[in-house]
Amino acid sequence: MALHLYRETDYSRYTSTTAYPTEEEERRQKEEMQTAEGLVSELALKLGHAPTCCVVTFGCQMNARDSEKILGVLKAVGYQETDSEDEADLVVYNTCTVRDNANQRVYGRLGHLHAMKKKNPAKRIALCGCMIQEPDVIEKIRSSYRFVDLLFGTHNLYKFPELLKKMLESDHMIIDVWKQADTIVEDLPVVRKYPFKSGVNIMFGCDNYCTYCIVPYVRGRERSRASKEILREVERLAAEGVSEVMLLGQNVNSYGSGLNGELSFPQLLQEVEKVEGIRRIRFMTSHPKDLSEELIAVMRDSKKICRHLHLPVQSGSTEVLRKMNRHYTREQYLALVARLRREIPDLSLTTDIIVGFPSETREDLEETIRLVEEVGYDNAFTFIYSPRTGTPAASWPMQMSEEEISEGFERLLKVVQEKARESVAKLTGRTEEALVEEVNSHDASLVTGRLSNNVLVHFPGDASMIGQYHQVKLKENRGFYFIGEKV
Ligand code: SAH
Ligand code: SF4
Ligand code: F3S
Repeated sequence: MALHLYRETDYSRYTSTTAYPTEEEERRQKEEMQTAEGLVSELALKLGHAPTCCVVTFGCQMNARDSEKILGVLKAVGYQETDSEDEADLVVYNTCTVRDNANQRVYGRLGHLHAMKKKNPAKRIALCGCMIQEPDVIEKIRSSYRFVDLLFGTHNLYKFPELLKKMLESDHMIIDVWKQADTIVEDLPVVRKYPFKSGVNIMFGCDNYCTYCIVPYVRGRERSRASKEILREVERLAAEGVSEVMLLGQNVNSYGSGLNGELSFPQLLQEVEKVEGIRRIRFMTSHPKDLSEELIAVMRDSKKICRHLHLPVQSGSTEVLRKMNRHYTREQYLALVARLRREIPDLSLTTDIIVGFPSETREDLEETIRLVEEVGYDNAFTFIYSPRTGTPAASWPMQMSEEEISEGFERLLKVVQEKARESVAKLTGRTEEALVEEVNSHDASLVTGRLSNNVLVHFPGDASMIGQYHQVKLKENRGFYFIGEKV
């Protein structure tokens, strides 16, 4: 019988943290992994080779981190990683639904995977992540993409060993999606993409309900991890050779709220700073409304916190910001930027901007362009507004025509690029420390390193330098990156 566990309404029983004691659940999932391992060995005999898997990530850093956990489980039970979606015996799409084009990409690629599955009937396809938290997406996949084997959401990722086992035992589509999280399970095996740097979740979900944004609905209420668990993870990563950590959350500045007696985010940073072996600390994302004086001081005085702050502004118009429910005005944002620049002069600032929000007028958009000119971001991610079902703004009338939006978007993009080039070019001639991340994909005689301020530099080197820190002279500016030389 098909196992349909779609708990659309019945989620009250999953909101208690005592119903499933975390350690007991961890133990249970470890047992499930052993069973899954047996099933994967049987599959290997049938296929004549170790089954291969390919995990494809859409969306943000949070999803990237989840994918590392998924891959960790798959490798632990005997799958071998491959880059080829076409050939993999198991493909996992970890999806994003923040804008509609992310969803469309998934549907498009599923069509192609279906053709591959016809050639290889043993092929399995699993979908997880934010898109799967939407009831209409589940319905669409159930009716039009019946060849998919497993669907699960963002709240029960820790059950992946069990779901994998069920998928391997069944011929039917398995659906297990919860409306809310019941618990934070700490201990899943992880395969990190980079041996020398890692994301670390410090909180899950979001309580801000910006009126355009679907994240609170698909990621649930804000939950912070206990700082001692976070520090334990950072220490373990450092012991494994990780020297750069990125603390992850939708609004890291509100870390700890809701946990009695928990550290604040700046205090957490100070504790992470003490971990031996960690040389660089990054974090994402900072909501301007909660960025405290204390955080600025901790960043200023830190030897390890990188000189980069991603501070999404979304719009330069106070009226639009109000309708977006962002809780700051244009003036407050600019004052915050001025304070940051004063305290931390070499700080690189990046941002996110939405164009075409329903209430936005042409004049509002001009205000955004002027704000970008004034701040001079080192980089900005610009998005055209995409209505998301269930969010308040989705039903509001638009003020600008599509032509006005795309014309304004192009103009904004030009200003963003011009300003970013100017800002990055200022570093020319300086010598900075770079963490080498990889061999350059276009020119194998070069390696690519990342500076503290997140700018990339390509310079002569080889694979043995990956994970090392080198002083690099930034010789030639090429727009958003540099060509350099080791000194
Ligand atoms: N928590 C982060 C943002 C996460 S989503 C923050 O508050 O800054 C990443 C970015 O996607 C947002 O900053 C926003 O610019 C963009 N975004 C979110 N919803 C969107 C929508 N409906 N249409 C277009 N862009 C959107
Ligand atoms: Fe979305 Fe706003 Fe939460 Fe960021 S803070 S995830 S934009 S609701
Ligand atoms: Fe997308 Fe989910 Fe991240 S909707 S942006 S993957 S939290």
